Parts: sequence; structure tokens; C-alpha cells
Amino acid sequence: MPAKVYFLKGDITNMEVDAIVNAANNDLMLGSGVAGAIRRKGGPTIEEECERIGSIRLGEAAVTPGGKLKACYVVHAASMRLGGRTTAELLRSATRNSLLRAEEKGLKTIAFPAIGTGVAGFPMDECADIMIRVVFTHLESRSSLEKIYFVLYDDAALKVFEDAYQKLSPVLKRKDEGF
Ligand code: APR
Repeated sequence: MPAKVYFLKGDITNMEVDAIVNAANNDLMLGSGVAGAIRRKGGPTIEEECERIGSIRLGEAAVTPGGKLKACYVVHAASMRLGGRTTAELLRSATRNSLLRAEEKGLKTIAFPAIGTGVAGFPMDECADIMIRVVFTHLESRSSLEKIYFVLYDDAALKVFEDAYQKLSPVLKRKDEGF
């Protein structure tokens, strides 16, 4: 059954999925934005596990339990250095590695925020193009994933992602029925 990709507006910490992806720095320090919401809603165990894991390579992704969140896991996608900025290559790598962590755990559902587009100041349209391309390229191979959600925080961001998907559809090998 091919995976379905969805675009929706909301608070990613409310998603009832196997894993939500955190827009992380590679020190796994939970700051503001998505990380702050995860810290507030997920409780101390997530931050404790992040501290135990410590720093990871830029562009890598690490998994912690979801704590009090509805999601079982949090995949921390390290697209930037603390206090730094996201780059296209780091965003591509962090998104790809998040999907690989999900496969390693055999996850069926995962939710992504617009990584890099808040504190890290990455352009929303470029983020949408990169993340959508990475996800659809990943889905060309066999995957445990059945549903992939992009959870955008406001209408403007949602429109950017939906427009990016429409623009990319002709080149994306997979036509997903989900959207
Ligand atoms: N649900 C969904 N999207 C959200 C939420 C939320 N609860 N909160 C913020 N966003 C959106 C922001 O509006 C932005 O578009 O997620 C996108 C990413 O923003 P940030 O969370 O600021 O992430 P990023 O820009 O990648 O910066 C990461 O900021 O908070 C620190 O510790 C974090 O060092 C890391 C850096």
C-alpha cells in the first residue's frame, strides 16, 4: 500500500502518530518553537533523554521516547547548530535521516514541521520544496511508513507547502491519493 502524504495546519505536539519530528539543533537542546512545545507538553523525560544522547552530527537525526505526548517517539532532526542557521543541504540530510530513523523502528505514521523556518530563518518555500522532494524520493523505495504528515503552524505556511506540492506533482514519481 503506497504511503499517503498529508498537509495540514495545526500544533504538531497534538498529532497522534508514531513519531513527530522536532526541528532540533545538533546539541539536542530544546529551545523555543517546536522544541519548546515538545518540552512543555512532553514533560522532562524527553529533555533527559536528549541530554543522555548528547550532541549528534549536523544533519543527523536521533530518536527519543515521546514522554507525555500522544506520539510514541520524537525524532530530533538536527538541521542546524545551536544559535546557527539551517542550510539546504543540512535540511535535506536531517529530513532524510529522520525518515531512516522511522524505518529502523518500523514506524507507520510520522509528522514533520517546517524544519528550519522559525528560529533558523530558512525560507518557507525552499523548505517546502526540499522536504517534499526528500519525502517522495524516500517513498520510491519500500517503506514501513503509511502516512506522512506535514503539520504547518499557520495558513500561510500551509499554502506554501500545498503550492509546492502542486508544482512538484508532475515530477514526483508517486501520485499519492492522500492529498
Ligand atoms: N507545531 C507545528 N509547527 C510549529 C510549532 C508547533 N507547535 N511551533 C512552531 N512551529 C513552526 C514555526 O512557525 C516554524 O515555521 O515550526 C517551524 C520551525 O520553527 P522552529 O521550531 O523555530 O525551528 P527551527 O527554525 O528549525 O529552529 C530550530 O530553534 O527552538 C530552537 O531548539 C531549537 O535550536 C533549535 C532551533
